[in-house]
Amino acid sequence: MLADLQSIAGRAAERNYAVAAFNVFGFEDASAVVRAAELLEAPVILAANVPAIRHMPVHLMGPLLRGIAERSSVPVCVHLDHGGDFHTVMQAVRHGFSSVMYDGSQLPFEENVRRTREIAKAAHAFGVSVEAEIGSVGYSDPALNMKHELSDPEETARFVDETGIDAVAVSVGTVHRMERQGAAIDFARLEAIQEKVSVPLVIHGASGVPDEIFERLVSTRVGKINIGTALRMSFGEALREELRRQPEEYDRVRLFAGPMAAVQETAARKIRLLGCGGRG
Ligand code: G3H
Ligand code: ZN
Repeated sequence: MLADLQSIAGRAAERNYAVAAFNVFGFEDASAVVRAAELLEAPVILAANVPAIRHMPVHLMGPLLRGIAERSSVPVCVHLDHGGDFHTVMQAVRHGFSSVMYDGSQLPFEENVRRTREIAKAAHAFGVSVEAEIGSVGYSDPALNMKHELSDPEETARFVDETGIDAVAVSVGTVHRMERQGAAIDFARLEAIQEKVSVPLVIHGASGVPDEIFERLVSTRVGKINIGTALRMSFGEALREELRRQPEEYDRVRLFAGPMAAVQETAARKIRLLGCGGRG
């Protein structure tokens, strides 16, 4: 069934688990993720980012993901990830997303507040949940030239109060697109933030979080954990393997069977690590 963000992430934040938000790019990975969630009876978030809606336009992506969500036996939130401007976010709202993230984290504080508040007001009018980011999670590749700045607890509280958002993405040690699990979480900062903020906290760049850290991470008020790179790596590695195994095959349905199974397996492993099984 289709779910909004604040209900599933809010419940998770108050208990010792978190909901996984997996970056998906179309039918193959979205259906594999939902299959994993159904087998584990876990709520899950299908997160389409800007490259995804460039690849498959938002007026097709929205109905596709929503159709998968509505037919699922578990709560599935259809979420826009890292929307960069009002127009992109509102297009997602119009085309069936139940939740959106606006990312103004590269902007100065006041400008981030101003734009986030405007988007929260507009999206809420359509009953759509809003996540936004304070501090800046940044990217592992320095060539992208993106700001990386840890979230300040006072500033995070002000940001949430002044914008009216439903969930806040915080920067506490992860960066996006880590291919190895090398992130060190600043738990003291995370705890200081959660004392001041009542909405669920969101961790981005969680492909870089070591498996053994998740148990502690989900015992905080983190309610949503974003995983992209680890899933894409599973898909890509399995596809390479499939092409090696069947060099003459050209039928995509046959070639995608292995990668879809690999995505399902990785998603299931992460859902279990987040303590989310049986929470659907
Ligand atoms: O918003 C998406 C996530 O933060 C995914 O990050 O690709 O490093 O796992 P990741
Ligand atoms: Zn992210």
